[in-house]
Amino acid sequence: MRQLIGAADISKEVASLAQRVAGDYRDRPLTVLGVLTGSIVLISDLIRAMELPLRVGLIQASSYRGRGTEPAQLTVNDALLPDIADRDVLLVDDIFDTGQTLSALYETVKQKSPRSVRSAVLLWKQGRIRVSLEPDYHCFRIPDVFVVGYGLDYNDEYRHLPYIAVLEEADL
Ligand code: IMP
Ligand code: MG
Repeated sequence: MRQLIGAADISKEVASLAQRVAGDYRDRPLTVLGVLTGSIVLISDLIRAMELPLRVGLIQASSYRGRGTEPAQLTVNDALLPDIADRDVLLVDDIFDTGQTLSALYETVKQKSPRSVRSAVLLWKQGRIRVSLEPDYHCFRIPDVFVVGYGLDYNDEYRHLPYIAVLEEADL
């Protein structure tokens, strides 16, 4: 495994993301909606760095099967979604790859009549986009490689790593 982004750099960029978001919303109450499971580490750091009136909610999306780059059928589970009618919502995911997950979640969230919806991701994988939506906020652009750590998994492993690493053939 090769380290791509160290813990100190992540921490710096997440703090800067928190400041940008807080600056954009000023004192408007925000609902941070974390996408399970990949966003758990990011949202826990992000919400603690954000000086804003905040609510936290979760939504679940599953699409990936292993390391394959073709997304499988996407399943959205909104059973954990709090009431977001008339609220400003920030959808937070670990990575924007083809964009299909975030774009589908965006549509699901829109149907609940929020006041506004924006999206934030830790990583934006370059050259893979297949939708018209782009993330409103991101911390790092990365090349088209498979990464794990800081919430991102391979077969549900490695989410706990405090850094981002590239998974190589030898690790499989
Ligand atoms: P998208 O729908 O293609 O944008 O894929 C987004 C989802 O795919 C993310 O929420 C991740 O769960 C997963 N994913 C995409 N690329 C990677 C990766 O490099 N490592 C781990 N998970 C990934
Ligand atoms: Mg995910």
